Amino acid sequence: MAKMKIAALISGRGSNLQALIDACKEPGYPAAITLVIANVPGAMGLERAELAGIRTMVIDHRQFDGRESFEDAMHEALVDAGIELVCLAGFMRLVTDGFVRRWWDRLINIHPSLLPAFKGLDVQERAIEAGVRFSGCTIHFLRPEMDAGPIIAQAVVPIDAADNADTLAARILAQEHRLYPLAVRLIAEGRVRVVEERVHIDGATAPEGTLINPLD
Ligand code: GRF
Repeated sequence: MAKMKIAALISGRGSNLQALIDACKEPGYPAAITLVIANVPGAMGLERAELAGIRTMVIDHRQFDGRESFEDAMHEALVDAGIELVCLAGFMRLVTDGFVRRWWDRLINIHPSLLPAFKGLDVQERAIEAGVRFSGCTIHFLRPEMDAGPIIAQAVVPIDAADNADTLAARILAQEHRLYPLAVRLIAEGRVRVVEERVHIDGATAPEGTLINPLD
């Protein structure tokens, strides 16, 4: 079966991109990254993509007079490349309703908290300050509201009394790197359906809508 063509949009380090690149190398993995777009020239993730022989593009938002024209350029590049699924991987720009609608149910994001808790930035610090005992990461389809949309998969990590934002971020990141390839695989296998804004995963052993925890 043809592999699903995916693109990653990045702004920086690209460690989640690397996790996806590594997964795509596994025999039988049902998706291939064929395009990486960065909105920041020199983003470290671009090097990772180049090393893996993946086509890269820099579409610098500062070169455009507004969000719409910036997103039009990205949209055109994605369509030209025949992209079927767009993965935001540390992409630090909010996208407009228009872009979300054009990629409805084909645009996913990873966020380092258990959504809907702790949307936005500095989430590890805020989780520690709030005194929650667990945090984690979430992969979700994008919707026009920030960090919202049907949840595909989550992984939980405990918070220790000794944690600071950096130690917690590192523990969550290790799970992000397992979760993103898992979610993309489920989508590429055609097993993920959105019904009334909730995700159903065909053939998952866990009951519908529950956490798929890579720690299991
Ligand atoms: C990750 O923590 C991701 O959840 C968040 O931004 C960070 C990106 O890290 N959206 P990287 O660029 O993938 O290393």
